[in-house]
Amino acid sequence: MFLLANEDGKAGVDQAVELLNNNNTAINSIVAGISMVEEDPHSKIVGLGGLADIGGDVTLDAAIMDGENIDFGAVAGIKKYVNAIKIAAAILHDSPHCMLVAEGAERYAREKNIPQRSPRLRKSEDQWRELFKSYVNEDPSVLSDKVALAQWCKKAILGAHGHLFKDTTIYMAKDHKENIAVGTSTSGWPLKYPGRVGDSPICGAGFYADNQWGAAACTNTGEMALRANTAFAVVQYMKIGLSVEEAVYQAMKDLTSLKGGLLSDLIVYGIDKHGKHKVVCYHSKPNGEPAPKFWYWHKNHSTDLELIVAETMFKDDILSMNHKF
Ligand code: GLY
Repeated sequence: MFLLANEDGKAGVDQAVELLNNNNTAINSIVAGISMVEEDPHSKIVGLGGLADIGGDVTLDAAIMDGENIDFGAVAGIKKYVNAIKIAAAILHDSPHCMLVAEGAERYAREKNIPQRSPRLRKSEDQWRELFKSYVNEDPSVLSDKVALAQWCKKAILGAHGHLFKDTTIYMAKDHKENIAVGTSTSGWPLKYPGRVGDSPICGAGFYADNQWGAAACTNTGEMALRANTAFAVVQYMKIGLSVEEAVYQAMKDLTSLKGGLLSDLIVYGIDKHGKHKVVCYHSKPNGEPAPKFWYWHKNHSTDLELIVAETMFKDDILSMNHKF
Protein backbone atom coordinates (compact mmCIF):
# COMPACT_ATOMS: atom_id res chain seq x y z
CA MET A 1 0.00 0.00 0.00
CA PHE A 2 1.15 3.54 -0.66
CA LEU A 3 0.04 7.15 -0.77
CA LEU A 4 1.61 10.05 -2.63
CA ALA A 5 0.08 13.54 -2.39
CA ASN A 6 1.36 17.00 -3.16
CA GLU A 7 2.38 19.29 -0.30
CA ASP A 8 -0.90 21.21 -0.43
CA GLY A 9 -2.71 17.97 0.25
CA LYS A 10 -1.47 18.12 3.85
CA ALA A 11 -4.88 18.55 5.53
CA GLY A 12 -6.00 15.04 4.52
CA VAL A 13 -2.89 12.87 4.22
CA ASP A 14 -2.95 11.44 7.76
CA GLN A 15 -6.58 10.49 7.35
CA ALA A 16 -5.95 8.87 3.96
CA VAL A 17 -3.09 6.77 5.37
CA GLU A 18 -5.17 5.71 8.35
CA LEU A 19 -7.99 4.63 6.06
CA LEU A 20 -5.61 2.67 3.83
CA ASN A 21 -4.11 1.00 6.93
CA ASN A 22 -7.65 0.02 7.97
CA ASN A 23 -8.20 -1.71 4.63
CA ASN A 24 -10.36 0.93 3.02
CA THR A 25 -10.19 1.21 -0.75
CA ALA A 26 -7.74 3.56 -2.45
CA ILE A 27 -10.72 5.44 -3.93
CA ASN A 28 -12.46 5.98 -0.58
CA SER A 29 -9.20 6.92 1.15
CA ILE A 30 -8.41 9.49 -1.53
CA VAL A 31 -11.93 10.95 -1.50
CA ALA A 32 -11.79 11.29 2.31
CA GLY A 33 -8.33 12.88 2.22
CA ILE A 34 -9.13 15.32 -0.58
CA SER A 35 -12.46 16.25 1.08
CA MET A 36 -10.46 17.42 4.12
CA VAL A 37 -8.23 19.52 1.87
CA GLU A 38 -11.34 21.02 0.24
CA GLU A 39 -12.80 21.87 3.66
CA ASP A 40 -9.61 23.55 4.91
CA PRO A 41 -9.73 27.29 4.10
CA HIS A 42 -5.91 27.38 4.35
CA SER A 43 -5.47 24.93 1.46
CA LYS A 44 -4.21 26.73 -1.59
CA ILE A 45 -6.51 26.91 -4.63
CA VAL A 46 -8.74 24.01 -3.52
CA GLY A 47 -12.30 24.00 -2.08
CA LEU A 48 -12.72 26.67 0.61
CA GLY A 49 -9.16 27.81 -0.13
CA GLY A 50 -10.17 28.34 -3.77
CA LEU A 51 -9.50 31.58 -5.61
CA ALA A 52 -11.91 33.34 -7.93
CA ASP A 53 -11.95 33.67 -11.68
CA ILE A 54 -11.63 37.11 -13.26
CA GLY A 55 -15.34 37.77 -12.75
CA GLY A 56 -15.16 36.98 -9.02
CA ASP A 57 -16.71 33.48 -9.04
CA VAL A 58 -15.00 30.51 -7.37
CA THR A 59 -15.49 27.45 -9.59
CA LEU A 60 -14.11 24.02 -8.72
CA ASP A 61 -12.89 21.09 -10.82
CA ALA A 62 -12.18 17.58 -9.50
CA ALA A 63 -11.76 13.97 -10.58
CA ILE A 64 -11.23 10.49 -9.21
CA MET A 65 -9.93 7.56 -11.29
CA ASP A 66 -10.12 3.85 -10.57
CA GLY A 67 -7.09 2.00 -11.97
CA GLU A 68 -8.74 -1.41 -11.63
CA ASN A 69 -11.58 -0.72 -14.05
CA ILE A 70 -9.96 2.18 -15.96
CA ASP A 71 -12.92 4.35 -15.11
CA PHE A 72 -13.29 7.84 -13.69
CA GLY A 73 -15.74 10.47 -12.47
CA ALA A 74 -15.03 14.17 -13.00
CA VAL A 75 -16.67 17.56 -12.59
CA ALA A 76 -15.90 21.09 -13.71
CA GLY A 77 -17.30 24.53 -12.99
CA ILE A 78 -18.82 23.73 -9.57
CA LYS A 79 -19.95 26.90 -7.72
CA LYS A 80 -22.35 25.63 -5.07
CA TYR A 81 -20.42 22.74 -3.48
CA VAL A 82 -17.12 22.67 -1.60
CA ASN A 83 -16.59 18.91 -1.98
CA ALA A 84 -16.24 18.66 -5.74
CA ILE A 85 -14.37 15.36 -5.23
CA LYS A 86 -17.51 13.81 -3.67
CA ILE A 87 -19.55 14.70 -6.76
CA ALA A 88 -16.81 13.18 -8.95
CA ALA A 89 -16.89 10.00 -6.80
CA ALA A 90 -20.69 9.77 -7.07
CA ILE A 91 -20.37 9.99 -10.86
CA LEU A 92 -17.71 7.25 -10.86
CA HIS A 93 -19.78 4.94 -8.65
CA ASP A 94 -23.26 5.50 -9.95
CA SER A 95 -23.53 7.26 -13.30
CA PRO A 96 -23.33 5.99 -16.87
CA HIS A 97 -21.29 9.14 -17.60
CA CYS A 98 -17.72 10.06 -16.72
CA MET A 99 -17.93 13.84 -16.51
CA LEU A 100 -20.57 16.45 -15.67
CA VAL A 101 -20.13 20.21 -15.64
CA ALA A 102 -21.65 23.28 -13.97
CA GLU A 103 -25.43 23.20 -13.34
CA GLY A 104 -25.81 19.59 -14.47
CA ALA A 105 -23.12 18.43 -12.04
CA GLU A 106 -24.71 20.49 -9.25
CA ARG A 107 -28.11 19.01 -9.96
CA TYR A 108 -26.53 15.55 -9.79
CA ALA A 109 -24.92 16.43 -6.44
CA ARG A 110 -28.31 17.56 -5.09
CA GLU A 111 -29.90 14.30 -6.19
CA LYS A 112 -27.09 12.38 -4.44
CA ASN A 113 -27.61 14.37 -1.21
CA ILE A 114 -24.13 15.81 -1.17
CA PRO A 115 -24.15 18.72 1.31
CA GLN A 116 -24.37 22.06 -0.49
CA ARG A 117 -22.11 24.93 0.56
CA SER A 118 -20.62 27.71 -1.53
CA PRO A 119 -16.80 27.81 -1.70
CA ARG A 120 -17.01 31.59 -2.15
CA LEU A 121 -16.08 33.02 1.24
CA ARG A 122 -15.59 36.61 2.28
CA LYS A 123 -11.86 35.79 2.20
CA SER A 124 -12.11 34.71 -1.47
CA GLU A 125 -13.78 38.01 -2.35
CA ASP A 126 -11.08 40.02 -0.56
CA GLN A 127 -8.32 37.98 -2.25
CA TRP A 128 -10.01 38.41 -5.63
CA ARG A 129 -10.15 42.21 -5.20
CA GLU A 130 -6.45 42.30 -4.30
CA LEU A 131 -5.42 40.06 -7.20
CA PHE A 132 -7.61 41.99 -9.60
CA LYS A 133 -6.06 45.31 -8.61
CA SER A 134 -2.52 43.89 -8.75
CA TYR A 135 -2.70 41.98 -12.01
CA VAL A 136 -5.45 43.65 -14.05
CA ASN A 137 -4.51 47.11 -12.76
CA GLU A 138 -8.15 48.15 -12.67
CA ASP A 139 -10.67 48.71 -9.91
CA PRO A 140 -12.89 45.57 -9.79
CA SER A 141 -15.99 47.75 -9.25
CA VAL A 142 -15.84 48.65 -12.99
CA LEU A 143 -16.79 45.05 -13.89
CA SER A 144 -20.08 44.62 -15.75
CA ASP A 145 -21.45 42.38 -18.49
CA LYS A 146 -20.34 44.98 -21.03
CA VAL A 147 -16.68 44.87 -20.03
CA ALA A 148 -14.55 42.72 -22.35
CA LEU A 149 -12.82 40.34 -19.96
CA ALA A 150 -10.66 38.57 -22.53
CA GLN A 151 -7.89 41.17 -22.70
CA TRP A 152 -7.84 41.68 -18.95
CA CYS A 153 -7.65 37.96 -18.34
CA LYS A 154 -4.82 37.54 -20.85
CA LYS A 155 -2.90 40.40 -19.28
CA ALA A 156 -3.37 39.00 -15.78
CA ILE A 157 -2.51 35.39 -16.59
CA LEU A 158 0.36 35.92 -19.01
CA GLY A 159 1.73 39.05 -17.34
CA ALA A 160 1.79 37.60 -13.87
CA HIS A 161 3.05 34.12 -14.67
CA GLY A 162 5.44 32.87 -12.06
CA HIS A 163 3.87 35.20 -9.49
CA LEU A 164 0.21 34.31 -9.53
CA PHE A 165 0.08 31.24 -7.37
CA LYS A 166 -1.85 28.37 -8.80
CA ASP A 167 -2.22 24.90 -7.45
CA THR A 168 -4.30 21.78 -7.17
CA THR A 169 -4.30 18.89 -4.81
CA ILE A 170 -3.47 15.45 -6.14
CA TYR A 171 -3.52 12.11 -4.30
CA MET A 172 -2.39 8.75 -5.67
CA ALA A 173 -2.83 5.54 -3.65
CA LYS A 174 -2.70 1.75 -3.74
CA ASP A 175 -4.85 -0.22 -1.29
CA HIS A 176 -4.66 -3.65 0.38
CA LYS A 177 -6.28 -5.25 -2.68
CA GLU A 178 -3.54 -3.74 -4.88
CA ASN A 179 -5.97 -1.36 -6.57
CA ILE A 180 -4.51 1.97 -7.61
CA ALA A 181 -6.45 5.25 -7.77
CA VAL A 182 -5.74 8.93 -8.33
CA GLY A 183 -7.76 12.01 -7.34
CA THR A 184 -7.51 15.74 -8.06
CA SER A 185 -9.28 18.90 -6.88
CA THR A 186 -8.73 22.58 -7.65
CA SER A 187 -10.31 25.98 -8.20
CA GLY A 188 -7.91 26.38 -11.14
CA TRP A 189 -5.97 29.50 -12.01
CA PRO A 190 -6.89 32.64 -10.08
CA LEU A 191 -8.28 35.25 -12.53
CA LYS A 192 -8.97 32.54 -15.15
CA TYR A 193 -11.56 33.38 -17.82
CA PRO A 194 -15.07 32.26 -16.70
CA GLY A 195 -15.66 28.75 -18.04
CA ARG A 196 -11.96 27.86 -18.25
CA VAL A 197 -11.32 24.20 -17.45
CA GLY A 198 -7.79 23.06 -16.65
CA ASP A 199 -6.19 19.63 -16.63
CA SER A 200 -7.40 18.47 -13.20
CA PRO A 201 -10.78 17.05 -14.30
CA ILE A 202 -9.52 15.84 -17.70
CA CYS A 203 -8.55 12.19 -17.82
CA GLY A 204 -5.11 11.70 -19.34
CA ALA A 205 -4.11 15.34 -18.88
CA GLY A 206 -4.23 15.96 -15.10
CA PHE A 207 -4.52 12.34 -13.91
CA TYR A 208 -4.40 8.72 -15.01
CA ALA A 209 -4.26 5.35 -13.23
CA ASP A 210 -3.95 1.78 -14.41
CA ASN A 211 -3.41 -1.04 -11.90
CA GLN A 212 -1.08 -2.79 -14.34
CA TRP A 213 1.46 0.05 -14.44
CA GLY A 214 0.83 2.79 -11.89
CA ALA A 215 -0.50 6.33 -11.86
CA ALA A 216 0.39 9.90 -12.73
CA ALA A 217 -0.97 13.38 -12.03
CA CYS A 218 -0.04 17.00 -12.65
CA THR A 219 -0.34 20.31 -10.82
CA ASN A 220 0.21 23.94 -11.75
CA THR A 221 -0.14 25.05 -15.40
CA GLY A 222 -2.95 22.81 -16.56
CA GLU A 223 -2.86 24.09 -20.12
CA MET A 224 0.53 22.38 -20.57
CA ALA A 225 -0.75 19.01 -19.32
CA LEU A 226 -3.82 19.39 -21.54
CA ARG A 227 -1.66 20.00 -24.60
CA ALA A 228 0.76 17.14 -23.96
CA ASN A 229 -1.65 14.65 -22.33
CA THR A 230 0.97 14.36 -19.66
CA ALA A 231 -0.55 11.97 -17.10
CA PHE A 232 -1.55 9.45 -19.77
CA ALA A 233 1.89 9.79 -21.38
CA VAL A 234 3.67 8.89 -18.11
CA VAL A 235 1.58 5.74 -17.65
CA GLN A 236 1.96 4.77 -21.32
CA TYR A 237 5.74 5.21 -21.11
CA MET A 238 5.74 2.79 -18.16
CA LYS A 239 3.57 0.40 -20.19
CA ILE A 240 6.15 0.23 -22.98
CA GLY A 241 8.88 -0.66 -20.51
CA LEU A 242 10.34 2.53 -19.04
CA SER A 243 10.95 2.92 -15.33
CA VAL A 244 8.81 5.56 -13.61
CA GLU A 245 11.81 7.89 -13.56
CA GLU A 246 12.41 7.47 -17.29
CA ALA A 247 8.67 7.81 -17.96
CA VAL A 248 8.48 11.16 -16.16
CA TYR A 249 11.60 12.41 -17.98
CA GLN A 250 10.05 11.38 -21.30
CA ALA A 251 6.88 13.30 -20.42
CA MET A 252 9.15 16.27 -19.59
CA LYS A 253 10.69 15.96 -23.01
CA ASP A 254 7.22 16.12 -24.57
CA LEU A 255 6.71 19.42 -22.73
CA THR A 256 9.79 20.89 -24.41
CA SER A 257 7.92 20.70 -27.74
CA LEU A 258 5.19 23.08 -26.60
CA LYS A 259 5.52 26.50 -28.23
CA GLY A 260 3.54 29.65 -27.49
CA GLY A 261 0.42 29.87 -25.34
CA LEU A 262 0.60 29.63 -21.58
CA LEU A 263 3.97 28.12 -20.68
CA SER A 264 4.98 28.21 -17.04
CA ASP A 265 5.65 25.48 -14.47
CA LEU A 266 4.17 21.98 -14.58
CA ILE A 267 4.75 19.49 -11.77
CA VAL A 268 4.46 15.88 -12.88
CA TYR A 269 3.94 13.12 -10.29
CA GLY A 270 4.53 9.53 -11.38
CA ILE A 271 4.32 6.33 -9.33
CA ASP A 272 4.64 2.74 -10.47
CA LYS A 273 2.58 -0.15 -9.15
CA HIS A 274 5.30 -1.01 -6.60
CA GLY A 275 5.33 2.52 -5.17
CA LYS A 276 8.55 3.76 -6.82
CA HIS A 277 8.00 7.41 -7.59
CA LYS A 278 9.38 10.33 -9.52
CA VAL A 279 8.19 13.92 -9.15
CA VAL A 280 9.66 16.64 -11.33
CA CYS A 281 8.81 20.32 -11.62
CA TYR A 282 9.32 21.52 -15.19
CA HIS A 283 10.19 25.19 -15.50
CA SER A 284 9.43 26.63 -18.94
CA LYS A 285 11.13 29.89 -18.01
CA PRO A 286 13.95 30.83 -15.63
CA ASN A 287 11.78 32.55 -12.99
CA GLY A 288 9.95 29.39 -11.96
CA GLU A 289 8.70 28.70 -8.47
CA PRO A 290 10.93 27.03 -5.83
CA ALA A 291 11.08 23.22 -5.82
CA PRO A 292 7.73 21.82 -4.66
CA LYS A 293 7.46 19.08 -2.04
CA PHE A 294 5.25 16.03 -1.82
CA TRP A 295 4.01 13.57 0.82
CA TYR A 296 4.87 9.90 0.51
CA TRP A 297 4.01 6.84 2.56
CA HIS A 298 4.65 3.18 1.78
CA LYS A 299 3.37 0.49 4.13
CA ASN A 300 6.54 -1.62 3.80
CA HIS A 301 9.04 1.23 4.09
CA SER A 302 7.85 3.43 6.92
CA THR A 303 4.96 4.01 9.27
CA ASP A 304 5.34 7.79 8.83
CA LEU A 305 4.61 10.11 5.97
CA GLU A 306 7.73 11.70 4.52
CA LEU A 307 7.83 15.17 2.98
CA ILE A 308 10.16 14.93 -0.02
CA VAL A 309 11.55 17.72 -2.22
CA ALA A 310 10.84 17.24 -5.93
CA GLU A 311 13.48 17.60 -8.63
CA THR A 312 13.28 20.76 -10.75
CA MET A 313 14.33 20.93 -14.37
CA PHE A 314 14.59 23.57 -17.07
CA LYS A 315 14.07 22.96 -20.75
CA ASP A 316 17.83 22.86 -21.41
CA ASP A 317 18.39 20.27 -18.64
CA ILE A 318 15.87 17.99 -20.30
CA LEU A 319 17.14 18.52 -23.84
CA SER A 320 20.68 17.66 -22.74
CA MET A 321 19.62 14.27 -21.34
CA ASN A 322 19.92 11.04 -23.25
CA HIS A 323 16.40 9.95 -24.02
CA LYS A 324 15.05 6.64 -25.20
CA PHE A 325 13.06 8.25 -28.02
N1 GLY B 1 -3.54 22.31 -12.66
C1 GLY B 1 -4.65 23.07 -12.27
C2 GLY B 1 -5.16 23.97 -13.29
O1 GLY B 1 -4.45 24.32 -14.22
O2 GLY B 1 -6.30 24.36 -13.18
